[in-house]
Amino acid sequence: MTHGSVRSATVEDAEAIGSVHAVSSDEAYGPLARDYQATPAEERARFWRALLARAQSDPRRVDLVAEAHGDVIGFLSAGPARRQDVGADLEVYVIHVLPEQRGRGVGRQLWAEGCGRLRGVELPSMLVETYAQLRCCTFYEARGGRVVERVPDVYDGGEVTRVVYHWARGVPG
Ligand SMILES: CC(C)(COP(=O)(O)OP(=O)(O)OC[C@H]1O[C@@H](n2cnc3c(N)ncnc32)[C@H](O)[C@@H]1OP(=O)(O)O)[C@@H](O)C(=O)NCCC(=O)NCCS
Repeated sequence: MTHGSVRSATVEDAEAIGSVHAVSSDEAYGPLARDYQATPAEERARFWRALLARAQSDPRRVDLVAEAHGDVIGFLSAGPARRQDVGADLEVYVIHVLPEQRGRGVGRQLWAEGCGRLRGVELPSMLVETYAQLRCCTFYEARGGRVVERVPDVYDGGEVTRVVYHWARGVPG
């Protein structure tokens, strides 16, 4: 059975998205850091409120939430590629699912709906930037992402490898 449902995010979702973002980041990114600088949920919510307010007038952006029983349990944000040097038109900026809700297909639903809206039928090229140490890499690899860049980096004092996953034009995600 499919767990949860996916819909467009609105400014009213900012607080819930901020909370999921904080909890999920603490779990996923915390172990990568040597001196983790957690961003509080309230600060994340302020960021998302401003961003979603701007995003509503930008048809190129895709901002989604996944819900279960009326609660936001995950989100995805995507739009034009921020980097111009990796040969990708579009980018998934961020995807998070609450730790206790992972591994149940919520990420897959967000991804399928997000990529469908973002890339349409012509499937323009797309990138995702992340760290090789994160478990999400297997998620991108399972969806056909190809690593086109690996760069040593530092995340809150911890040594990491920044990776760019790439989907060429016409290659489904
Ligand atoms: C990556 C993420 C969004 C996937 O969402 P999800 O709901 O767990 O995904 P699904 O249930 O649809 O698919 C699970 C697959 O994702 C992968 N995965 C990645 N991280 C995982 C995690 N922490 N727990 C479970 N599965 C994870 C597994 O390979 C799994 O594949 P499998 O079913 O073959 O074992 C989610 O795990 C997450 O929020 N991770 C932490 C935040 C993060 O790293 N985000 C990406 C930053 S670029």
